[in-house]
Amino acid sequence: MAEASFTPRVFSGIQPSGGLTLGNYLGAVKRFVEMQERGVETLYCMVDLHAITVWQDPEALRRNTRQLAAFMIASGIDPERSIVFNQSQVPEHAQLGWIFNCVARMGWMKRMTQFKDKAGKNAENASLGLFGYPALMAADILIYHATHVPVGEDQKQHLELTRDIAAKFNHDYGVEFFPMTEPVIEGVATKVMSLRDGSKKMSKSDPSDMSRINMGDDADTIAQKFRKARTDPEPLPETVDGLADRAEARNLVAIYAALGDRTMEEAMAEVGGQPFAQFKPRLADLAVEKLAPISAEMTRLMDDPAQIDAILNRGAERARAIAGPILDRTYDIVGMVR
Ligand code: TYM
Repeated sequence: MAEASFTPRVFSGIQPSGGLTLGNYLGAVKRFVEMQERGVETLYCMVDLHAITVWQDPEALRRNTRQLAAFMIASGIDPERSIVFNQSQVPEHAQLGWIFNCVARMGWMKRMTQFKDKAGKNAENASLGLFGYPALMAADILIYHATHVPVGEDQKQHLELTRDIAAKFNHDYGVEFFPMTEPVIEGVATKVMSLRDGSKKMSKSDPSDMSRINMGDDADTIAQKFRKARTDPEPLPETVDGLADRAEARNLVAIYAALGDRTMEEAMAEVGGQPFAQFKPRLADLAVEKLAPISAEMTRLMDDPAQIDAILNRGAERARAIAGPILDRTYDIVGMVR
């Protein structure tokens, strides 16, 4: 399909299920800000309908939704230039999601590794929503005809499925209606790893709090977590190539590079050869310098939930103005009497 016929538009979403980490910041939100600065149209969504695919306490969900909005805004997303909203306020997501439930195939969904990870051994007891999660995610993106989706590496398979759903819809109905969305998985920190195990993703669900930096950790906690981060005993190598078989060292350098807007090569030119006793405090200082203002601003914003709600309401209105006509046209294509 001729992608050129679609106006560039960026969409991405984050689940308001609590526990925002440095992985969410470097892999997603910091890059959302960069895309906003490029001047394309950007939509950023708190995907509360996705969050409830696993149990969420209602009060906690409300608080986490506002906190996620505060995190995005504190990180530099400007609700004037970007459309910032929560998913449940734009019913078109769920409406298109239903159509996509009827387009996606069981076999495709069964291959989704995130479902397998989240459902664990007890898949029979997982919610139907968790199984259908990727079809709703495709709807999130395609209800805006979004052309680019910045995400971390763990979302790659879902974005491939989004393209499969778009292609099957277009093929089945003989249209060129939905774009082939491009995942944007770029930069040095598309997969921030655990500080305790360089083979595991940094995640809010890891039982060890020492495995991650939480947005909101204070300076002492950040310094302590980096000081205790697992590494090998050797000093850092001189070059990026030397990091190849050193997952933990590589992860810390990638975090350093991403926080300081450097390439891996630039970061290694600065810190290559340093022992960890020297590098870790330097990394901690940089992290505190970059994260402390975000935390402070999040706290300030959270003091005024009505202002956050007003931003989300306005964002939802703007989002619906784009989504409404695309849903109407979809219903026409499918054959719904209007
Ligand atoms: P979620 O809420 O798990 O994560 C939000 C974003 O943070 C990224 N991320 C990471 N990046 C690098 N290193 C890490 N350790 C790390 N941990 C998390 C994720 O890749 C993601 O970009 N299914 C999505 C939410 C979603 C969505 C969408 C995304 C729903 N609809 C439509 C894009 C477009 C999710 O669970 O992300």
